Amino acid sequence: MSGMSEVVVGGARPLRGRLRVPGDKSISHRALLFAALADGRSTITGLATGDDVASTRRSLEQLGLRIKGSAEQLTVTANGVAGFREPEGVIDCGNSGTTMRVLTGVLAGRAFLSVLDGDASLRRRPMARVVEPLRAMGASIDARADGTLAPLVVRGGDLTGCRHAPSVASAQVKSALVLAGLQSSGATEIVEPIASRDHTERMLAALGAPVTVGADGTVRVTSGAPSAFELAVPGDPSSAAFFVVAACITAGSEIVLENIALNPSRIAFVEVLRRMGADIEIEEREVRIGEPVGDITVRAAELHGTTIAGDEMPSVQDEIPVLAVAAAFAEGVTDIRDAAELRVKESDRIGTVQQELGQLGIAVESRPDGLLIRGGRPQSALLKSHGDHRIAMAAAVAGHAIEGDSTVRGWSAVDVSYPDFLADLAHLCEGPRDDG
Ligand code: S3P
Repeated sequence: MSGMSEVVVGGARPLRGRLRVPGDKSISHRALLFAALADGRSTITGLATGDDVASTRRSLEQLGLRIKGSAEQLTVTANGVAGFREPEGVIDCGNSGTTMRVLTGVLAGRAFLSVLDGDASLRRRPMARVVEPLRAMGASIDARADGTLAPLVVRGGDLTGCRHAPSVASAQVKSALVLAGLQSSGATEIVEPIASRDHTERMLAALGAPVTVGADGTVRVTSGAPSAFELAVPGDPSSAAFFVVAACITAGSEIVLENIALNPSRIAFVEVLRRMGADIEIEEREVRIGEPVGDITVRAAELHGTTIAGDEMPSVQDEIPVLAVAAAFAEGVTDIRDAAELRVKESDRIGTVQQELGQLGIAVESRPDGLLIRGGRPQSALLKSHGDHRIAMAAAVAGHAIEGDSTVRGWSAVDVSYPDFLADLAHLCEGPRDDG
């Protein structure tokens, strides 16, 4: 664990050598949930190490699942959804939106009462987006603020499939509806306004569950379950993105990030950086349960501004804080549009990115749904995480690439997804310098 509330970074030391980042957070949540829906024993290695995935594990244990081992290797023994038991206490989803929203989709089909709660940040995040469509399928769900905010009270039961057309592109919402659809009579269809990440569809289809995706992108689900499985979770591209940007903006860097999940709905940030002039290569090596996996090689390069907008946004949204750092070090203007969803992430990421880049002396204009960043010469500063793991790591990447020392306050926020981030950054900075 990071165990620190304040860290100092700086020195602009080049990143060199090879690294494996922790397991992908989205795939880890799903691996645990899908193992819980299967009948039999699943084995998962290399699970994400942060608090978010631990929240999903604890929640499933409260629901009666037997989970043994640690993130390095664990087994889940399940008897399908029928084996889920009414939890005795409140399910604490911590800081994890994925745990709360996706689990609500599972619990909507269970004929017992569950109460899901989370930390102060999660209690502020919108929940009507899952509550309303799950009610339309027959679940009884109540929540604070007229059914819009956690805690959520779910009394599940018999569900009937229907067609959903959510107004936001959200993989958490889509996944909740898919998992409810697996427990429903009739077919459930989901048509998204723009495609969000598709791990749920890929993994469930590869595990034999009745989930298909039409040529027009419509996801179709009928009643059924995945089979038990073995999975080595690939590295998290959203965690890798911090080192990718750090290597781009720190002169003399050259790194290889190994065993990374290369799902196209997750690595669009590489395309954005290439547009900005980055030197990045991707090599796919294998496919695991429907998910491509391989290596990313990055060399330092001069960057220039770009526009990030439209259909690209759902696939890069978690990387916007660190792409904003790349923009701060780039020549010219970067225009980030169609990003209103960033306002309802672990922090208001439009506000927090603007504030932290401002501390570094970078001019940033904000709009309700975006940012305009004028690249320049960031100066060392006192930075804050705002309790948001991705803001903390983006701040550390910026601070690292500046000669003078910067401080990042509220560092322990990184425990949510990447407790060992600083140790891994240090490892890359101690990598071989003269390897030709
Ligand atoms: C996630 C989906 C995304 C992303 C989040 C993880 C997932 O949110 O921001 O970090 O694992 O399904 P959306 O629900 O907005 O797509």
